[in-house]
Amino acid sequence: MIYPIVKYGERVLEAPAEPVTVFDKELKKLVADMFETMYAANGVGLGAPQIGIPKRLSVIDVTVGEKPDGKLVLANPVIVSKEGRVAHDEGCLSLPDFRASTPRPERVTVRAQDTDGKEFVISGEGLLARALCHEIDHLNGKLFIQHLSMLKRDSIKRKVRRLMKAGQW
Ligand code: NI
Repeated sequence: MIYPIVKYGERVLEAPAEPVTVFDKELKKLVADMFETMYAANGVGLGAPQIGIPKRLSVIDVTVGEKPDGKLVLANPVIVSKEGRVAHDEGCLSLPDFRASTPRPERVTVRAQDTDGKEFVISGEGLLARALCHEIDHLNGKLFIQHLSMLKRDSIKRKVRRLMKAGQW
């Protein structure tokens, strides 16, 4: 099932999500739906709050469905270490058509649980590190624009408000 993606301005995107505590069939169905929703939107990552579900659950696929082992599911993820800093163009499905050069760690190590509740650790660099940070941010109620200068952030917010007023958001 493809969910509608919640856009910037909705409260669920700016509130910390609740931990995943039940690892059942329903969770696996939700994960499958999140991948379907993410691929349909041509995204490389999606957090449950982006479909209006305030759970600490994210899916990532930086291969955009090209490789079967590119699928990554993160329940209750936390960053355990990070290294370096690099700015690169970044966007978000909840802020369609807005992109900006965003600073992120070059390498991160994340601890999370899979859909069975089993803990694992994953390290990534480049786009994967960026996606991991971006998705974990979503679970903490944070969007990429919060990493931009106030000037850039306010410019994006102003444009969004204009679109909202015009009924185009
Ligand atoms: Ni996003």
